[in-house]
Amino acid sequence: MKDVYILGIESSCDETSCSIVKNGREVLSNVINSQIAIHEQFGGVVPEIASRNHIQNISKVVEKALEDAKIGFQDIDAVACTYGPGLVGALLVGVSYAKALSYSLHKPLIGTNHIHGHIAANYISHPDLKPPFLCLVISGGHTHLVHIKDYTEFEILGKTRDDAIGEAFDKVARVIGLGYPGGPKVDKLAREGQPNIELPKTHFDNLDFSFSGIKTAVINLHHKNPDVNKADLCASFEKTVTDILVEHALTAAKGLNIKTIALAGGVSANSYIRNEFLKLEKQGYQIYYPEPVLCTDNAGMIASAGYYNYLNGQIADLNLNAIPNLPIQAIS
Ligand code: KG4
Ligand code: ZN
Repeated sequence: MKDVYILGIESSCDETSCSIVKNGREVLSNVINSQIAIHEQFGGVVPEIASRNHIQNISKVVEKALEDAKIGFQDIDAVACTYGPGLVGALLVGVSYAKALSYSLHKPLIGTNHIHGHIAANYISHPDLKPPFLCLVISGGHTHLVHIKDYTEFEILGKTRDDAIGEAFDKVARVIGLGYPGGPKVDKLAREGQPNIELPKTHFDNLDFSFSGIKTAVINLHHKNPDVNKADLCASFEKTVTDILVEHALTAAKGLNIKTIALAGGVSANSYIRNEFLKLEKQGYQIYYPEPVLCTDNAGMIASAGYYNYLNGQIADLNLNAIPNLPIQAIS
């Protein structure tokens, strides 16, 4: 079969990114312009500022991606862009740019779901990984336990009923004064502490998650006792949320008789979570997670997911719009 080159664009939150991916798995370039330093002073992403920066950055990021991949616009087979979920103003920049590119180059346009992208990051890091498998998508905006039945067929087995796990990491970090984004900072400090503080776990009669209770418990504990050891608090928080993730993943894996579990999304860069899942290999499970740069938002994962949409004939037209709350199953 002829090689397929997808140009992917990601702009759903605070990263402007463009990537060229060959045959869904081989990254020729992945340019990521992160706005973290700009939003840090506000303690979180400011949507209007994010949109404005995407507009300023996108042309340069796309040009650099082509340059790094040593190819030209004409070598591309299709243009894939994230059209949801995410911040509407931020998404619109990538969607509009991708539409203009697709129209002017006479190349197909592929709308890509950001969550499918996070899952597909594993295809790049692990050329041997094929569906079916289970994937825990754990990021700043999402916490989903998904059954990947096929490259473009997804079933949600459980999701958060309140905060996303990354939101909880970020909030805990902010309250104890670690700054934004908190996940990597909690990860680092937790390595110096012991998980010796009891924190609440919320259970439902299905595989849904809830992280608002534990987040509030950490905040209350810190306010009542500002001298509490921060490293122990981080270690205890990490252990409690990880126990829940492992429990839910194992219940789903046993129920479906699936032995392959992948992690995806920004929080899957967490070293404790990775190690706890790796321990399951002793029980015969195969554990996958993307390399750190592919865990957080990037266009490589969007081009990879876009490739499988392309093979499946899921081509969008110029009516493609940004959908901030796009559900996981949605196809363009
Ligand atoms: O996937 P992502 O870049 O954005 C969304 O699609 O939401 O994820 C960002 C989230 C943030 O909440 C950040 O704190 C968290 O991922 N994160 C981590 C780590 N690295 C990033 N959380 C825990 N441990 C880490 N090492
Ligand atoms: Zn993301």
